[in-house]
Amino acid sequence: MTSDQTMPHVTFLLPEGRSGEVEINTSLLEASKLLGCRLNHDCGGNASCTTCRVEVQMGAENLSEIDFDEQDLLDREALSEPWHRLGCQAKVLGDVVVRVPKGKWVAPTMPQSESQGIEIQ
Ligand code: FES
Repeated sequence: MTSDQTMPHVTFLLPEGRSGEVEINTSLLEASKLLGCRLNHDCGGNASCTTCRVEVQMGAENLSEIDFDEQDLLDREALSEPWHRLGCQAKVLGDVVVRVPKGKWVAPTMPQSESQGIEIQ
């Protein structure tokens, strides 16, 4: 993939962190797969489990608006603060930085050099 100024830059703050560019309207869950740090997604991306939950650190305005199903699930799980988003529902519209809560991601299955993301310090 070549670098494109119009592609949003997504950063996942994990134990080691991953960052890279994705197409606009890519979900955070899909972005995590592309960058080699796949979020858990027990319900298959159907807004019914919260295992894909992330905490937005910067760029909340650059994510798609939260819809009824996402807000309803977050409210039921007592995660109503605005920084909580479901990775399977939130789509990337611009640069964003999210923190992945401990235990919410799957260890990379490919070597760092083969992933599309870059390790951040
Ligand atoms: S994968 Fe289950 S809510 Fe996102």
